[in-house]
Formats: sequence, structure tokens, C-alpha cells
Amino acid sequence: MKLTIIGTGYVGLVTGACFAEVGHRVICVDNDAAKVKTLQAGGIPIYEPGLEEMVRRNVAAGRLSFTNDTAEGVANSDVIFLAVPTPPQPDGSVDLSFIERVAREIAGAMTTYKIIVDKSTVPVQTGDKVAETIKRYCKAKVEFDVVSNPEFLREGFAVEDLMKPDRIVIGVKTQRPVPAMKEVYQPFNAPIIVTDINSAELIKHASNSFLALKISYINAISVICEATGANVQEVANGMGMDERIGKRFLNASLGFGGSCFPKDLSAFIKIAEELRYDFGLLKEVQRINSGQMDRFLKKIIDTLWVLKGKKIGVLGLAFKQNTDDVRMSPAIELCHRLQKEGAELRVHDPKAMDKAKALLKDVTYVDEMNAVADGCDALVIATEWEEFKQLDLERARKSLSHPILFDGRNLFDPARMEQLGFIYKSIGR
Ligand code: UGA
Repeated sequence: MKLTIIGTGYVGLVTGACFAEVGHRVICVDNDAAKVKTLQAGGIPIYEPGLEEMVRRNVAAGRLSFTNDTAEGVANSDVIFLAVPTPPQPDGSVDLSFIERVAREIAGAMTTYKIIVDKSTVPVQTGDKVAETIKRYCKAKVEFDVVSNPEFLREGFAVEDLMKPDRIVIGVKTQRPVPAMKEVYQPFNAPIIVTDINSAELIKHASNSFLALKISYINAISVICEATGANVQEVANGMGMDERIGKRFLNASLGFGGSCFPKDLSAFIKIAEELRYDFGLLKEVQRINSGQMDRFLKKIIDTLWVLKGKKIGVLGLAFKQNTDDVRMSPAIELCHRLQKEGAELRVHDPKAMDKAKALLKDVTYVDEMNAVADGCDALVIATEWEEFKQLDLERARKSLSHPILFDGRNLFDPARMEQLGFIYKSIGR
């Protein structure tokens, strides 16, 4: 099929590449001229495993191209996907100005029937507004359908999640766009559910909020575990074996972050408020999440006492593993709070150091993970990178003035760490 994706961020670029990979012809549009130039020259502005090769392969095969021109995308495709940012506003509500502007641009360029699909995460009832806007600004007065098709990809696993989705959600007002939408997704061999537009939009906010709730739940359990000498991983494992609960997203941590969960929780609370429902449950999810960071910091201060003048090594800056994304990263927040206490920091991340430099100043960026501990008073793990499990613990033990390791991601076995001579403090164990 001939498809256009507007917006080449994490969602748009991965979606475009994966659609091309299964044989569709895809035009990716972005209004950032520099970004389009980079992409046209074979560069990739983000780190996402498997993405670079996939983009290169599909550009070479003539199935994937990049442009600044929305009208070019609209003229040359049957289905147009919106994957533009929907950032938070200071009061927690969603800024829909990018969606509105792109809807007007598409409307102005339409001369035949088009299907306009919203992939960005938006408040329930946004589809109606998009349809109204397109109708108003479409000079050619052609027919169109608006579809809601939320994405469920995780950064760091985005290609995998897109190529092997658990489900595809298609929200429609009429049946007319359904066959085309099914054709787009047929190569992915996933269950497709067709709903009304409002339900599809809600599925996204409800799913992300539920996953965040699951993390806050296990983080709350981790506090009880610490107070009683139980082990949160054993508890999570025993809970997760019940298929109704499931094992995934029960990893206790110093808190969730990123550009999705924090923003989507605030947005959903605000949406509920406007509908006159106080979503206290989700406010508690937020409260537990920020408490988790406070508790982790307290653990560090209780152990090291005064941080002023102390050197701390921090492993991990990205908001999670396998990504260079540092937006709303708990690791960066932790670094800022340690700096506020007067600590000097030596930091490392396998992929996120370049992006971190804009947010985190006055620290020493260390290229090699095993060198981070050199001359430090303690080491902290802030991101769940798999490779941190390969840390040279013997070297770390010798490099630290006293072998103290705070693990905000539970990467190591407490018994083994004790055997190796570490004072080892993790989450809920
Ligand atoms: C999340 C959802 O998982 C995706 O399904 C959704 O499509 C995406 O938001 C979105 O709305 O675009 P993402 O934010 O990329 O994906 O990453 P996650 O893997 O969900 O991790 C979010 C945060 O939770 C990270 O800081 C991670 O470290 C933390 N986390 C995750 C935990 O602390 N414990 C866990 O068990 C899992």
C-alpha cells in the first residue's frame, strides 16, 4: 500500500521503517529540515536496536523516502498516519497544537478520498476534533475517514514490538476504512480489534496507566519487603506465576520515567477531572513513583552521611535500557539530586551520554563502564542496561574508597555481592 507517516520521532520513524519492511511504500514527512536531511543522507537521529539497518535496507529498496512536504505525502498515499508529538502542558493536559496543525495541512492538500490515522497518544474524543478540523479546512470537499490506531511500542524494543505486536487496535466511525487498515496490518499476523474511535483512544491511556500502576504496585510492595526482610523479586515471581497477574512489569526500581508514563498519567488524570471523575488511584501511582526516588536517595545519604565533597559513580543515564532517550529519566533526576547534596559525579551510559550532556552539566563523563568507580566513594546503578551485569566487580571493589554499591535496578544477587565484600543496597531485597 502507499502510506505516509507524518512525524519522524520514535514512533513515526520506527512505524515507517517497519511498514516498508513488510512491503508497503512509505513516505515519512517531518517539518524539521535538518532531520530530513540527516535521514535522506542515511543518518538516524535516535538509537533504537535494529532500526538503522532496517531504514537503510528499505531506502535502498526504494520503499522508504523522506520529505519536508506534507502535500507530497498526501498526494502520493492512500493512508496518512499522524505520529507527531503530544507534549504535556504545565497543568498536565495535552498540547494538541501539532495534531491540529497537521490536520489542517493534510486537509489543505487532499484532493481525493483519504484515510487519516492518528497514532499519537491523544485524549479521548480527539478523533472527533480532527475530523471536524479536516472537514473545515478541506477546500476540495472530498470524503475522508479518521481512524484511531494507538501504538504500543516500547523504546529500546520498538522494532520488535512493532514487527510482533500483541494486538492491533483500529478505532473507526464507519466501516469504510476497515479493509484498508486490515491490509496495512495483514503482514504482521497479529489479532486486530475494531472498535469505535473513543474506545481506541482510551485503550492507549488505560493501558499505559495500568502498566505504570503495576510498577508502582510492586514498588510499594518493595517498601514492605524492606521493612520485613522479604525479597521483592521472590514476591513478584510468585505473584507473576498467576496468569491473571503475569510476570512482566513487576520489576521494582527507583521509579519509572520516560516520555510516556509520566506524561500519560498526568494527561489521564486531567481528562478524568474534566469528565468530573477524580482518578485518585492514578494520583497514588504518581505519589508512589516519586516516593521511590526519595527513598533511594535517603538510602544513599543514610549510608554515606554527608555527600558534600564525596565522589559518586553513576552507571546509567537513559530512562531505561537499550535507548539513548534521557527525557524524564529517573537516572538524570537522581544525578541532579545527588549534585544538589554536593556530590561530585562520574557518569557513564552505553548510548545516552551525548543526549545527557544537554541536561546534566558539571559531571565527568566516563567512556568505559569499568572506569566509572575509579576514585569514588560509592557506585550507583540507575538504568537497567543488561551490560552493567558484566561490570568488573573485582575492579570496582578495589577502585572504590570503600566498596559500596547502590543498585536502583536490582541487577545483582545480594548474597553474591556480600560474598564479594560489598555493602550492597538494592530495592526491596
Ligand atoms: C511505554 C509502554 O510500555 C509502551 O507500551 C507504550 O507504547 C509507550 O510507553 C508509549 O506510550 O509510547 P516506554 O516508555 O518506551 O513504553 O518504556 P517502558 O518499557 O514501558 O518503561 C517505562 C519506564 O518504566 C522505564 O523508566 C522503565 O525503567 C520503568 N520500568 C519498566 C520499571 O521500573 N519496572 C518495570 O517492571 C518496567
